[in-house]
Amino acid sequence: MAGVTHSALRQILISFGGVGLLSTEMLSSRKLPTESPRFSPFLIRTAIEKPLSYQLLISADDEMDRAIDALHRLRADAIDLNMGCPAPSVGRSGAGIRLMERPGDVRVMVSKARRLTQLPLTAKIRIGIDLDEQKLVDFCRMLQDEGIDLLSVHARLKHESFARSPRWETIAAVKKRLSIPVIANGGIFTVDDARKCLELSEADGLMLGRGAVIRPWLFADIAREVFGKDLPRTEADLPRMYNDFIDKLVGLYRPEYRLGRLKEFTHYFAKNYQFGHHLASRVQSCESVEAARERAGEFFRTST
Ligand SMILES: Cc1cc2nc3c(=O)[nH]c(=O)nc-3n(C[C@H](O)[C@H](O)[C@H](O)COP(=O)(O)O)c2cc1C
Repeated sequence: MAGVTHSALRQILISFGGVGLLSTEMLSSRKLPTESPRFSPFLIRTAIEKPLSYQLLISADDEMDRAIDALHRLRADAIDLNMGCPAPSVGRSGAGIRLMERPGDVRVMVSKARRLTQLPLTAKIRIGIDLDEQKLVDFCRMLQDEGIDLLSVHARLKHESFARSPRWETIAAVKKRLSIPVIANGGIFTVDDARKCLELSEADGLMLGRGAVIRPWLFADIAREVFGKDLPRTEADLPRMYNDFIDKLVGLYRPEYRLGRLKEFTHYFAKNYQFGHHLASRVQSCESVEAARERAGEFFRTST
């Protein structure tokens, strides 16, 4: 998730357990080859963040060689191709969900990527531009035929907002017709959501987004309750986790990269509190990470 699933959050997620595969945020195929793995907040990574899939935002096959070379140098554990982002700024360059409108070009891109890497190659899509199951299945079959190893499906159409209920049952139409693993995504905030999503989608696994940013222990809860993994039940200490997140931002990133990421995380984290909007707005108006830490501390002292 852009601005969210960087190293600081990934470390926290993995500390709770239950994560099968972590992911970077989307990485521009054009910028990636010149980014510094030591200083870029998109690329900084620690040894515990494993396995880590790197997501490419790419719109043309002639960008594939350099991008995949860079991912090999970065020791990616898997490569994911973003075919689901609906942001207009992304669409203008022909990337993200715009790729679902260009199956011929995608075929060329994926077959090229397949030739260039031995790493697991995956794709993340939405269920389409409009509701057209046959078109969706044809697109997914094409991805499978060209060598995609696993497909993640966000159960919403291009223009559907996050507020709309996800169409988990549409994922089942894809799952039934593919032999590669299909992972369901969208609207999983609780263990019950995870159960219901698996039941309706018939998917092989789940991808969590906002739910795990709000509650980084959600992977562990689902792994234990739904998949029967032997993981201890841990009571998250929220103030401690928040401060730990800030420490990680400070330890990992240059000053100019810290505050924006803290505000982004706070937007989700604050949802753990009944009056969390007070925390979010207090942090939002801060001009430094240390001011934000102090304001959050005041909030924690007066909240339960
Ligand atoms: C702030 C934000 C950033 C996102 N960035 C990405 C991204 O970089 N790559 C991607 O594939 N999806 C991205 N997404 C979409 C999520 O991965 C996910 O598909 C979507 O939020 C639905 O899942 P959820 O309901 O579990 O959050 C982003 C979503 C949000 C809210």
